[in-house]
Amino acid sequence: MAIGTSLSHVFPLGSRLNERGHVEVGGCDTIELARELGTPAYVIAEDDLRARARAFVQAGRDGGHEDFHVVFASKAFPCTAVLELFAQEGLWCDVASGGELHLALNAGFPPERILVHGNAKSVSELEMALAAKVALIVLDNFDEIERLSDLVSGNRSQGVLIRATPDVRGDTHEKISTGQADSKFGFSMADVPAAIERVRAVEGLVLEGIHAHIGSQIMELDPFRRVAPALRAFGDFPVWDLGGGLGVAYTAEQTPPEIEDWVGAVLGAARDSGIDASARLLVEPGRALTANAGVTLYTVESVKRNVRTWVGVDGGMSDNMRPMLYGALYEAHVADRFGGDTPCVVAGKHCESGDVIVREALLDDPRAGDVIVTPATGAYGYAMASNYNGVLRPPVIFCKDGDARVVVRRERFEDLTVRDVR
Ligand SMILES: Cc1ncc(COP(=O)(O)O)c(C=O)c1O
Repeated sequence: MAIGTSLSHVFPLGSRLNERGHVEVGGCDTIELARELGTPAYVIAEDDLRARARAFVQAGRDGGHEDFHVVFASKAFPCTAVLELFAQEGLWCDVASGGELHLALNAGFPPERILVHGNAKSVSELEMALAAKVALIVLDNFDEIERLSDLVSGNRSQGVLIRATPDVRGDTHEKISTGQADSKFGFSMADVPAAIERVRAVEGLVLEGIHAHIGSQIMELDPFRRVAPALRAFGDFPVWDLGGGLGVAYTAEQTPPEIEDWVGAVLGAARDSGIDASARLLVEPGRALTANAGVTLYTVESVKRNVRTWVGVDGGMSDNMRPMLYGALYEAHVADRFGGDTPCVVAGKHCESGDVIVREALLDDPRAGDVIVTPATGAYGYAMASNYNGVLRPPVIFCKDGDARVVVRRERFEDLTVRDVR
């Protein structure tokens, strides 16, 4: 591949091969980053995060809906620097636990731009949400309505949405499909009217509207178009939250809908189903904001040739669970020898045969000491990271215009024992 060439849409915007033939992200040479800051490392192009946030917001403006807001599903990348950036960009934030609420508040999200999700919220999480005066609590089940009604006093009015399960299936992995009737999330369509009635009877709760999220990594627009009409059947409301789920490209062959087209489809379906033009419309993208903004850098520790060529790297399922959880596909490249035709398995360092990052990588004659770059790891990697095998979690490095700044430091061995009580 020619030097100076921009890399595919799987990589962060502006990524290229620099004059030395090294992969460059956010203007930073990944080989230098690896040498100076070590591996494994999550490398994030700051401008890419901002560009995607702005694309969602602009698409809403272009769609002509005045009261439209983009809610970052913080589970995708619950890291203070990322949250701060999206708070600055004017996004809202969805949290799915007390911990995520803590992170969002700490990063400066005003509570009036926070939504609280969860199918098993505890009393203390509900108390925390009430105390913070969050904009909306998204009610998931009848037990929660009763629990929350016990907590709100008559003179306090907490806005709530009811989460419906609209029985719309997106073509995605079973473990990230949430909109089907047989789901642990939300009220079934049959139960929504009773939930509406019950919430309306509770003094202190204000039913603002309905929510649905049909699942994640959905690559077609049609399932999204079916959500608004399904929810509209429940009546008129001031707020409609139509969820997230827009798919992203993990490999160069994948071509998900553009952000503009997705927002256009969601807003168009809302309009066509008779949702009032003055209603507040929310969408909740997670991975579409962060996945392609990030790459992971690894160092090759070993190359083994048996039936296949096994490239053993210094990370694995502890920094990226998605291949193991969902059979997710990724690409990998040698950071200073892009491209190549040696079929390889890029395997992690953990004591599990399934700990494979990329099952079918084509690399340029990989050797111990090479730096491997895996694109599209900006969502649900950091979020699901663990210390399995006592492996230390990687740093998060923001890159912009050639400057790199560590926004989460690499773990140290002391971190592994910090919670011990002896
Ligand atoms: C309620 C809700 N909203 C939004 C999202 C974000 O999904 P995605 O990252 O696929 O956009 C999720 C993901 O699990 C979710 O559960």
